[in-house]
Amino acid sequence: MKNGGGGKTKRNREQCGDYLDVTWNDHIPAREYFEQLIRVSRERIIWGANYFNCFENGGGALVWYKNMGHPNLSNCEIASLSFQKKVDFVHLNWASGFYRRMKEGEVIHPCQKPVALYKWLLTNYAKPGDLILDTHVGSASSLIACHDLGFSAVGFEIDEEYYKASKQRLKDHMAQMRIEDMSNHISGEDDKPEQITMW
Ligand SMILES: C[S@@+](CC[C@H](N)C(=O)[O-])C[C@H]1O[C@@H](n2cnc3c(N)ncnc32)[C@H](O)[C@@H]1O
Repeated sequence: MKNGGGGKTKRNREQCGDYLDVTWNDHIPAREYFEQLIRVSRERIIWGANYFNCFENGGGALVWYKNMGHPNLSNCEIASLSFQKKVDFVHLNWASGFYRRMKEGEVIHPCQKPVALYKWLLTNYAKPGDLILDTHVGSASSLIACHDLGFSAVGFEIDEEYYKASKQRLKDHMAQMRIEDMSNHISGEDDKPEQITMW
C-alpha cells in the first residue's frame, strides 16, 4: 500500500512535533518503483493514485471521504485498485479529534490513516491467507489492521524516526490481547498464524 502526499513540511512539524526535513514527498516515485511493485505483488491498492496517475485495469478506484472540514484540505483520498474496474466509496471521518488524538499519542505521523480504513480494505478486498505488503508504512496503521484481522504482513519504512515510532506502536498494540486470542486461549486453540514483519 503506497501513499502519496503529506511529507514533513513546516506545518506538519509544528503540529506533530520535532520532525526533520525529508525529501520523500518532493517527487513521484520513479517508474521503476511501480514496475517493481507490479513484479512482486498479485494485486495493488495505491493511495494517491490521482497524484501519481497510476490507475490500472481501466481505472478501478476507491474514494475515501474523510471529511477534513477545512477548505484548504482535501476531503477525499483516492486509491487505485488493480483488481476491479468499478469505483467504490467509503466514508470514514478522520478530521474530527485528529489533534486531540495527536496530543494523546495515538497519532504519530502527519499522514497517518485510520486503522479502521485498513480494516475496511482488508475486509472488502483481501482473501484469507493473503500476504499484505505495505512499502510505505508510516504509522503502521496498516500493520495493526493486519494483525487484528489475522493477515500476515510485511512493511517497510525508510525514515528512522518513523520506523522506531511505528514499530513501538505496533509492538504496544500487539501486546494487547484480542478477544479471539482470549477465547482461543481458553479453548486450547492457541494458534496465531499471522506474522507481521517490519523493515
Ligand atoms: C504518506 S506516508 C504513509 C502513511 C501511512 N499510510 C499511515 O497510515 O501512517 C509515507 C511514508 O513512506 C515513507 N517512505 C518514503 N519513501 C520510502 C521508501 N523508499 N521506502 C520506505 N518508506 C518510504 C515515509 O518516511 C513516510 O513515513
